[in-house]
Amino acid sequence: MSKSYTELDKQYIWHPYSPLEYGDNIVVKSAQGVYLHTCDGRKILDAISSWWVNLHGHAHPHISKAVAHQAATMEHVIFAGFTHPPAIQLAHSLCNILPGDMKKIFFSDNGSTSVEVALKMAIQYHAIKKQHRHKIIALHGAYHGDTFGAMAVSERGIFNQHFHQYLFEVEYIPFPDAQKEDEILNILFTKLKNNSYAAFIYEPLLQGVSGMRTYSASWLDKAIHLCKEHDILCIADEVLTGFGRTGRLFASEYMNNKPDIICLSKGLTGGYMPMGATACNARVSDVFTFNGSKSIFYHGHSYTANPLSCAAANASLELLLEDSCQEKIQRITKWQREFFNEIRSHPKVNSAHTLGTILSLELKSEHATEYHNVLKTQIYNFFIERNILLRPLGNIMYILPPYAIEEKELKNIFHNIHAFLSKI
Ligand SMILES: Cc1ncc(COP(=O)(O)O)c(C=O)c1O
Repeated sequence: MSKSYTELDKQYIWHPYSPLEYGDNIVVKSAQGVYLHTCDGRKILDAISSWWVNLHGHAHPHISKAVAHQAATMEHVIFAGFTHPPAIQLAHSLCNILPGDMKKIFFSDNGSTSVEVALKMAIQYHAIKKQHRHKIIALHGAYHGDTFGAMAVSERGIFNQHFHQYLFEVEYIPFPDAQKEDEILNILFTKLKNNSYAAFIYEPLLQGVSGMRTYSASWLDKAIHLCKEHDILCIADEVLTGFGRTGRLFASEYMNNKPDIICLSKGLTGGYMPMGATACNARVSDVFTFNGSKSIFYHGHSYTANPLSCAAANASLELLLEDSCQEKIQRITKWQREFFNEIRSHPKVNSAHTLGTILSLELKSEHATEYHNVLKTQIYNFFIERNILLRPLGNIMYILPPYAIEEKELKNIFHNIHAFLSKI
């Protein structure tokens, strides 16, 4: 190749959430543990787990070995009329560890498709029961992905602005800020009197894309309870919060009332392979069991339950369930909590949130919080110059590290956050 990777990348590749005319993308040649090694010799600390997917560090030998072994055994097989051990093992493990007595796992490709599947399951559930319930309830600020159904149940905003007229109507309730919890529960209660709702979808306890902001388990517990009383299916989108990020294996564990459907992706394969999974309890699966052909769920993807993805997920789950990993999650949680207590009242910080291994800081800004807030580039550049990958959401910076991170590496990020705040 006569041209450099950077030139060829610019010539041929259309990157997500990026203008076509963009500066140079950083070329990464390898990744190990919490570090990305670039072609120009830099070693960058991945403080956001490469878009929230990596759990145990990059190129983890246990997962790499499992994927290599699977690749040499069977790379892929049709998943209708056929099945295979890695998928069976994974579905079995997920049903064992997921909250809410989940009975069935439907595999797909990514977080957005896990949400599409959940929505279609919920709508068909009511159709089979001959209940005219079409509408979905969601929270303001929600983000559930970029496919059409997932966009429809997300907040209307910059990510879907060109598609609003194509999105189905959704009933939103306000984000349950601590001071308004009762009021918002009442709004939900009033809406529920109208029996037209099929499902309530939510990111449990922490909304990711809208700013890593948290809300209370007691509010969500009551909201799920209300929905269940009205025969509305509850869909927990745990695409981000699953697999230990919030300090427990799944955020839904913090509530007494459990969802009927859970969406999974991101950490599912430890960040190795694309995969989505939608789990449902017996309330849902029973309805699909006894209704003949009407109950066939006409949804599938060519790569459904891809064996390499299943092998990666099985290996990642083995690591996640080890005591050493659970202890590490608790240690990261403690370090983040200590820093949160130290930084939350900093004069440049408007609000701060932490839940489990995740910490976010909303910086004071003259502009309202928005994705392209001017601070976004400043934050990104400051940290990348110091070999730390933080990818802020507008004026909100957050740390969402792989569990392989060491205390000194996390403290280095904290130190640089202080340095950044004193500079702006
Ligand atoms: C809560 C949540 N749901 C769904 C998605 C969509 O996942 P994917 O990007 O894999 O389609 C995301 C992505 O950030 C997410 O945070």
